[in-house]
Amino acid sequence: MTTMRQRTDRNGLDAIETASRDEISALQLGRLKWSLRHAYDNVPHYKASFDAAGIHPDDLTDLSDLARFPFTQKADLRANYPFGMFAVPREQVVRIHASSGTTGKPTVVGYTRQDIDNWADLMARSIRAAGGKPGDIVHVSYGYGLFTGGLGAHYGAERLGCTVIPVSGGMTERQVQLIEDFGAEIIMVTPSYMLAIADEYKRQGLDPRKSPLRIGMHGAEPWTQAMRQEIEETFDMDALDVYGLSEVMGPGVAMECIETKDGLHLWEDHFYPEIVDPETGAVLPDGEMGELVFTSLTKEAFPIVRYRTRDLTRLLPGTARSMRRMEKVTGRSDDMLIVRGVNVFPSQIEEQILKDPRLSAHYVLELSRQGRLDAMTVVVEPRAGHPLGGDASADASRKLAENVKAFTGVNADVRLVAEDGIERSMGKAKRVLDLRDKG
Ligand code: DLL
Repeated sequence: MTTMRQRTDRNGLDAIETASRDEISALQLGRLKWSLRHAYDNVPHYKASFDAAGIHPDDLTDLSDLARFPFTQKADLRANYPFGMFAVPREQVVRIHASSGTTGKPTVVGYTRQDIDNWADLMARSIRAAGGKPGDIVHVSYGYGLFTGGLGAHYGAERLGCTVIPVSGGMTERQVQLIEDFGAEIIMVTPSYMLAIADEYKRQGLDPRKSPLRIGMHGAEPWTQAMRQEIEETFDMDALDVYGLSEVMGPGVAMECIETKDGLHLWEDHFYPEIVDPETGAVLPDGEMGELVFTSLTKEAFPIVRYRTRDLTRLLPGTARSMRRMEKVTGRSDDMLIVRGVNVFPSQIEEQILKDPRLSAHYVLELSRQGRLDAMTVVVEPRAGHPLGGDASADASRKLAENVKAFTGVNADVRLVAEDGIERSMGKAKRVLDLRDKG
C-alpha cells in the first residue's frame, strides 16, 4: 500500500495525530480491509489459517469483526522460516531484520522500500513526541545489525532532520566521550545500558547532570517509573518510553509524549491494537489489563494479523495525541516468575530495590531449587561509589527482603555484591538467572 507523506498541522504534527476518533477509525477500517486481503492473497499461511477458521477478508465490515480472525503466534513465524511470511516477491524486500530469541531459529522479518519509509516517518514522529526537533544531535546506542533498535532509531532521526551519531552498543568509555565531545542532546538506548553509561560518567569523575543530554528515548525492555526517576535525576533530563517489536516493525510502534509522560501513544494509523485475555483469547474492553495483540495496517512485505506479543498492558484514551495510549509494559507473560506459587514480575522487584537510595538498579534474580520448592535470590549492587559496610549491607538486605515480601508476597533472599559484581548488558538486560535445572 503506498501512502502519501502525511500533511502536517500548525504544530508540526502529522494531521492524524490530532484527528478525531471517527477519522482515525475510518482510516483504520479502510486500511485493515486492505491489509487482511493483502495477507490472505499473498501469504499461504494466512490463507490456510483464515480458511481453517472459516473466515474471509470480505467478512470484515467493522473493526470489531477483527476478533473473528485467527491469532498469529511466534511459532507460526518460526514454522515459515526464513521468508515464508513475506507477502511480496523477495526482490522487493530491501531489508531483513531478525530477533534471536532464546532458543531455536530466529524470527525473520522483511521490509519493502515503502515499509522502511513508513518506519522512518513513525520513528521521526516518535522523536518529535519526545521533544526532539530538526537539528538536534542524536546519539544512538541501540545495537546496529539484525536487531531493529539501531537502524530503526537511525532512519527516524535522519528523517526528522537530526544529526545522527551511530554508535551502537558497547565500549562504554567511548560512549561517554562521544556524548561529551559531540554534544549529544538526545540519546536512544535501553534503560539498563543508560545506567551503565551513568556509572561510567562517575568513574571518569564527570557529573552526568552536566552532560549535554536533555532527552532519553528508552525501550526494548521493561522498566519502571522508579527507573525513570533514577535516570532523570542522574542525568537531569527527560526519560521517555519507546516501544516496539520486530514482528510489528521495530522501535516506534508507540511512544510517550513529553507533555504528559502518561503512557505511550500507539501509532494507530499503522497498527491496530487489541487487548485479549491471555488465557481465553477473548477481546477485552479498553482499560482492562491483558495481552497486547497487533494487526498491521500498511505493511507490505510482512503483514501481520492479530500477533500475540505476550506483552501485558492496557489501552487508555488519548491525551497529548488523539490516538490511544498503552500503559507502560510491566512485563511479558513469559517473564512472569512463579516462586512458591506466587506470581511476580522482575519489574515489581525493581521497584522495591529502587526504594532504597543505597541500592542500584543493577540487579539479577537468581532462581534455584531448595528441596522441591523454587527459591529466589535478589542479587543487587550498591549504588556506584557508595560501598556498604557490614552493618549497612545487612540492614539494606533485610529491608529489601521485607519490602519484597510485603509488596509482592514472595519470600526472597537478598545478596549484596560488590560494585560491578553484576554483568552489564550492552542492550537488553538479562534479569533472570535460572539455576533450577543445573542441580
Ligand atoms: O526491542 C524493538 C525496540 C528497539 C523497541 C528499541 C524500543 C527501542 P524486539 O527485539 O523484537 O524489538 O523485542 C520486542 O521487547 O515484545 C517487549 O517485550 C520488549 N519491549 C520493547 N520495548 C519495550 C518497552 C525491540 N518500551 C520486545 N517497555 C517486546 C517494555 C519493551 N518492553
